[in-house]
Amino acid sequence: MKKINAIITGVGGYLPDYILDNEELSRMVDTTDEWIMTRIGIKTRHILKGEGKGTSVMATEAVKDLLEKTNIDPLSVDLVICSTVTPDMSFPSTANLIAYNAGLTNAFAFDMSAACSGFLFGMQTAAAYIQSGRCKRVILVGADKMSSIVDYEDRKTCPIFGDGAGAVLFEADPTGEYGLIDSMLHSDGSGAKHLYMKAGGSAYPASIETVENKWHHIHQEGQTVFKAAVSNMADTAVALMERNNLTSDDVRFLVPHQANMRIIDATAARMGLSREKCMINIDRYGNTTAATLPLCLWDYEQRLKKGDNLVFAAFGGGFTWGAIYFKWAYDGDTMKR
Ligand code: UT7
Repeated sequence: MKKINAIITGVGGYLPDYILDNEELSRMVDTTDEWIMTRIGIKTRHILKGEGKGTSVMATEAVKDLLEKTNIDPLSVDLVICSTVTPDMSFPSTANLIAYNAGLTNAFAFDMSAACSGFLFGMQTAAAYIQSGRCKRVILVGADKMSSIVDYEDRKTCPIFGDGAGAVLFEADPTGEYGLIDSMLHSDGSGAKHLYMKAGGSAYPASIETVENKWHHIHQEGQTVFKAAVSNMADTAVALMERNNLTSDDVRFLVPHQANMRIIDATAARMGLSREKCMINIDRYGNTTAATLPLCLWDYEQRLKKGDNLVFAAFGGGFTWGAIYFKWAYDGDTMKR
């Protein structure tokens, strides 16, 4: 009997309306469009505005888009996983809120926290539930409201991040030929000190001191993270290709985390891929953390064909990183947008 594999059968997405461009940013901090474009490659990012609106608002819209496109019964979904570092609250999980708000009331739901690798780690988890036969339909959401933890007085971090959400549906492929073929995932806690948000958890609960010290914002040592991202993303993606006897000609698209255009270019170069074979939307959305990978799929879905070999790669806080080899299971232009 063939092994059941987990395929993606639909993609949904959502971006909030407000667009923060480099011109507006350069009135907020000492920066320029030229510096941001040269060093990072971001022109605009979307920002969720509105009192009391958290990540679940965007994530629910992405799931509704997915449900509409795939036309499945919401009650047939067994599990909802939300990868995020900006949950609405510490608890209940954001996935719980999404499941309720999108009408997925038969599903159990939980969040995953692996920073910018959250969606990648979530793909492996969602696939495992399908491959084991435990679930028939799993919705994986990658969503972050990064504007809620960005310090808009810090020019080193505020140009980088944006808000957004993407969602995919995992189902079984009885032929076993398509879907998640192989993965290499890694974590290294020695990197924690280079990229983190200090307060708001159990170590430093919110206090006047944590607020005054700006410990509720992202702390990133850019150059250290940059070097680790380039070497780890590229090494892992190349190792995954070698383990699966994939040449650069075999790969249709690299689906890279959108942290910095220079990191994407370096990873693609190590894999022997041209820019045309990279999914890129960092220029329009910035780094939406757990949402970058599904938003890439959302943007490029129409160009994907059944049987396309995709290599996903990500790096983020933790440190966490990895790569996934995934065989696409449907012609994207057959899906309505
Ligand atoms: O997604 C999670 C993983 N995160 C990443 O992968 C991010 C990795 N890191 C990066 O992408 C880059 O390191 C940054 C985009 C964060 C920074 O770029 P960089 O080329 O590493 O710049 P830098 O931090 O070395 O700063 C170079 C100079 C500094 O000035 P001095 O000290 O040389 O005078 C900064 O103060 O650029 C200055 N600078 C800026 N200038 C204008 C830093 N930010 C800005 C800015 N505008 N926004």
